[in-house]
Amino acid sequence: MSQDNAASNATQGDAFENLLHENRQFPPSDEFAAAAVAKADLYDEAGADRLGFWARQARELLSWDKDFGETLDWSNPPFAKWFVGGEVNAAYNALDRHVEAGLGDRVAIHFEGEPGDTATYTYAQLTEQVKKAANAFESLGIAKGDRVAIYLPMIPEAVIAMLACARIGAVHSVVFGGFSADALRNRVDDAEAKLVVTSDGTYRRGKPSPLKPAVDEALAKPGHTVSNVVVVKRNGEPVEWSEGRDVWWDDVVGGASAEHTAVGHDSEHPLFILYTSGTTGRPKGILHTTGGYLTQAAFTHRNVFDLKPETDVYWCTADIGWVTGHSYVTYGPLVNGATMLMYEGTPDSPHQGRWWELVEKYKVTILYTAPTAIRTFMKWGKEVPAKYDLSSLRVLGSVGEPINPEAWMWYREVIGGGRCPIVDTWWQTETGAIMIAPLPGVTATKPGSAQVPLPGIEVDVVDETGASVPNGSGGYLVVREPWPSMLRGIWGDPERYKDTYWSRFENMYFAGDGAKKDEDGDIWLLGRVDDVMNVSGHRLSTTEIESALVSHEYVAEAAVVGAVDETTGQAVVAFVILRGSVSEEIDVVDTLRAHVGKEIGPIAKPKTILVVPELPKTRSGKIMRRLLKDVAEGREAGDATTLADSTVMQQIASSLKR
Ligand code: PRX
Repeated sequence: MSQDNAASNATQGDAFENLLHENRQFPPSDEFAAAAVAKADLYDEAGADRLGFWARQARELLSWDKDFGETLDWSNPPFAKWFVGGEVNAAYNALDRHVEAGLGDRVAIHFEGEPGDTATYTYAQLTEQVKKAANAFESLGIAKGDRVAIYLPMIPEAVIAMLACARIGAVHSVVFGGFSADALRNRVDDAEAKLVVTSDGTYRRGKPSPLKPAVDEALAKPGHTVSNVVVVKRNGEPVEWSEGRDVWWDDVVGGASAEHTAVGHDSEHPLFILYTSGTTGRPKGILHTTGGYLTQAAFTHRNVFDLKPETDVYWCTADIGWVTGHSYVTYGPLVNGATMLMYEGTPDSPHQGRWWELVEKYKVTILYTAPTAIRTFMKWGKEVPAKYDLSSLRVLGSVGEPINPEAWMWYREVIGGGRCPIVDTWWQTETGAIMIAPLPGVTATKPGSAQVPLPGIEVDVVDETGASVPNGSGGYLVVREPWPSMLRGIWGDPERYKDTYWSRFENMYFAGDGAKKDEDGDIWLLGRVDDVMNVSGHRLSTTEIESALVSHEYVAEAAVVGAVDETTGQAVVAFVILRGSVSEEIDVVDTLRAHVGKEIGPIAKPKTILVVPELPKTRSGKIMRRLLKDVAEGREAGDATTLADSTVMQQIASSLKR
């Protein structure tokens, strides 16, 4: 980590200093605590025998086709094997076994489309659909170990496709529907996917919005490994058709047999790859395997959300394109036999009360969402949720970015009526499942802090040398011991896995986040200390956006920073130096924003693009993003003494004034 980042982390830390005096605490009510799934003795049990604790969870939460021997093989760190020799089928655990247990009529998914159409899938119906899809994929030549790209909106077929892959041992790679054709192609190529599952499109703000054209564009250039594209009919809009390659979901899945026997896969068999942004321009394919991932996804979903599968209606608002949608839409809830709500659209369509209308309609009891959404609702005003009956809610979750105490309190009071515990959950694509969070019937919650590592998880905050910091101090967040749902590597790049996560501190996983321990030892997350930004809870790489910008003919050089934003947490601000030949008449900003949208996806479009004559660089040529962040956040630029040219910041300031 550069000095630059460490310094900016320190500044961030100071800004949070006042929060560390937070002394409001909200213990669970006696009634909640008495009925809670998780009890305090989980910490004692895991503390006394961490591996024994996880072995018990694995055996109790999952049905294994073959029991495992060793709980953890850590003989070749950082390459872990969990539940060694065990065999387990993820789809069987999410589906068939609930039907066999007589729960076939329980609703698995209440689906609500953006236009207001609805569908209900019981466990029996979902199991049947997944069996058909598994047969369909096999009939298209997909076998165990093959990779399948899933590029779908939030519709039940997304979950069905994921589980059909898991059932046959194919490895899914879900690509967020908001990513561009280029981003899709890069991911398809890196994973060497044989099949793409997509839809004609979806609905956005009441209008049909296309998806398949991006697949056609992504696969237009030869040299890819895709032999078929399965297309779900969602909005009925006309689509281009590639004969021999494209098949309708309704034909191939609809026509398939509903008989399919799930067989156990090795505990370490790859379950999925999910691409996420790192500090370099190239997204990383984070690899998760079966037994450990499912164990921790199910354990956390049950204990952190206090899940009572018989009575709860659970709603996680994340898209399946992100890890939250993997662990807390697909795998955790279904393995636990939960009833969930799935909503296709945006929160303001057709009106700003849509989410609360849905909570009332489906009597949602557990809601899991991101701080950005909460801050947006705060802006819209508490009169909007006040129009709906939210009394069914009993647990509220937050994920993806730090939640400021003000938003936390608003969530608690306005949405939760002051009665629902708030669980602020810290984790990452790489960790696979929640790592730090209060347990709702145990922990007295504290606005703004994710607080404590879960039982069986060894998290710490350390200084530059890797030494644990005392309470009241800040540093870097690390994980000291392997955990079941940890990433098993970066697809096709074991060296990058070691370098990125295991080289900064000896024998510790470095998460890339800054954190502080308060006087009680509770953990406060302070944001990334590397070149990763967090916009609306979505991870974006500064270097990836810089590469996109400089790939445009107008741009000579670019630097990108994440500037504090009231609603989205951070916003992308780009500084660009134009090539001499670019005429002043051209609308550079719009052109470049559109270009980034095309290269990566609309979520990566810079909010602001500033044309500058120079960029601040050190003598070794490294861009000092810290100084640009000062400019982007409207502060006087900090210490610039290490700049190669000390006048650069003045040049930038006066060019921006103009
Ligand atoms: O910086 C942390 C932030 O999101 C990053 C992980 O992003 P991603 O892999 O996309 O996964 C997001 C959903 C799990 C982390 O490195 N982050 C996640 N949850 C929190 C958080 N920051 C603060 N508080 C959280 N609860």
